[in-house]
Amino acid sequence: MQKIRHAVIPVAGLGTRFLPATKAIPKELLPIVDVPAIQVVIEEAVAAGIEQVVLVTGRGKGAIMDHFDHSYELEDTLRRRNRLDLIAEVERISEMIRPVSVRQKAPLGLGHAVLCAQPIVGDNPFVVLLPDDLVESDIPATRQLIDRYEQFGAGVVALMRVDREDVSMYGIVGAEQMHERTHRITSLIEKPAPANAPSDLAVIGRYVLPGSIFAHLQRTRPGHGGEIQLTDALQSLARDQGLVGYEFQGTRHDIGDKLGFLKANLAYALQRDDLGDDLREHLLRTLERE
Ligand code: UTP
Repeated sequence: MQKIRHAVIPVAGLGTRFLPATKAIPKELLPIVDVPAIQVVIEEAVAAGIEQVVLVTGRGKGAIMDHFDHSYELEDTLRRRNRLDLIAEVERISEMIRPVSVRQKAPLGLGHAVLCAQPIVGDNPFVVLLPDDLVESDIPATRQLIDRYEQFGAGVVALMRVDREDVSMYGIVGAEQMHERTHRITSLIEKPAPANAPSDLAVIGRYVLPGSIFAHLQRTRPGHGGEIQLTDALQSLARDQGLVGYEFQGTRHDIGDKLGFLKANLAYALQRDDLGDDLREHLLRTLERE
């Protein structure tokens, strides 16, 4: 089984749901408490054993690369002020990974964004992490999927059960259960009306894909919303080579949505030693007053 070394992280979207915050700042740098969302996602990839991160970027996303670079002035100033704790953290981030970036020159859809990584990934299997999805779990969600890939030798997508009335917000799969939490995917449909949804199993933003997905993406025509959909290429891959769905263990936060972003910030802050107790007390008092 070929070891998975690459993670592709598409960050070329416009982030319209967070305007005006995202007018000059990439949505992926909005913080979860004090850590940019993209760092949370890259830490998951690194914890899963990924060695090479490929960011698919667009205009105005340069600050993301800067975040993972050394900042000599900052490090020097912190050193002179003897802030050893902060230096250690800042240096850890710059040394965690050396990302490469590839440009998606027009936002033609998620499928097109993934295709832009082909010159770097080549024929190798790789993972895709969408930074709009954060997953809190004991075993990194990406690692859970790589384990299934090594078990079955096929592409794997992360699945989550959703309420029937919410299916039109997701890619939904038709599937046959193989084992507990594991499904053989027979069909995929992007954002179906509830009446057309083959199940309540939604795909969330973690995937293990074989290099052959690129050939499927090249043949994929614009679909839902006029965009080149990864879901459509996955449907073609499932038919050709099979595709596994895994109901990952953990809690997923949709931080591409305003309410989901606020909930994630609360969930992460409540777990922090330096903030949790004070925040819990404040929330309880505020809710009592309401
Ligand atoms: P979304 O559909 O959430 O779009 O993309 P968005 O632009 O990020 O956010 P909104 O909806 O305008 O607020 C899902 C993921 O796919 C990437 C996005 O960066 C995000 O990680 N994406 C989407 C691209 O990289 N390129 C595209 O053409 C479309």
